[in-house]
Amino acid sequence: MKEQAALRAADELVTSGIRLGLGTGSTAVHVVRRVGARLAAGDIKGIRVFATSFQTELECEKLGIPHYGLNSPELSGGLDLTIDGADEIDTENRLIKGGGGALLIEKLAAYNSGRFAVVADEGKLVSRLGLRFPVPVEVIPESRLAVSRALEKLGAAVTLREALRKAGPVITEHGNLLLDIVFREAPDPEELEEYINRIPGVVENGFFTGPWGRRIRPRVYIGRSSGAVESRD
Ligand code: A5P
Repeated sequence: MKEQAALRAADELVTSGIRLGLGTGSTAVHVVRRVGARLAAGDIKGIRVFATSFQTELECEKLGIPHYGLNSPELSGGLDLTIDGADEIDTENRLIKGGGGALLIEKLAAYNSGRFAVVADEGKLVSRLGLRFPVPVEVIPESRLAVSRALEKLGAAVTLREALRKAGPVITEHGNLLLDIVFREAPDPEELEEYINRIPGVVENGFFTGPWGRRIRPRVYIGRSSGAVESRD
């Protein structure tokens, strides 16, 4: 389901010459591979890619996809389109992202893109965000307990994300920690996205409701169990 959604978005949206943000995760990787295949076939040319994580960068390297830093002259701080996955998508196309821990750079890409698209299977659709899948909050290590207390006051259960096959916590690509928070009552995503980022020590959180003052929502491609892919603006 997720592969079908990814292929449809990569074929429909990616055109020659664009500055393209490529997301992270097991769904977004299908977009990366499709873009690589289209480039190799000569179907698209001259794209400049920004990879949202080390994982995506490695995949680009493997496929010979040219990728650049966001500050490079090739990208100069902006993108035409970003395609990424999501952990939860509500009925208004607001998202939770960061299950793979790449939320900081994913948000940087999404919020600096002319267009943003999300690819997912139907299991990611929810009526309210934040009740099932934890919202990740990236914090500097020194603020771990202070931020945890501030988040608990908002009515959230807070867990420090532990690493797999390494003792201790996950350390992000920016040397920070991740606090995963689950709400007992449905939160207001817009309000919380801004509020959480004002707590000292917080670097970014995984609510994606659109850049401040510009509530632009992504186009969402949903892979259905029937094999169909639906797109929704
Ligand atoms: C990475 O940090 C995330 O935002 C992913 O885009 C999200 O977790 C979806 O990942 P999957 O496609 O692997 O479910």
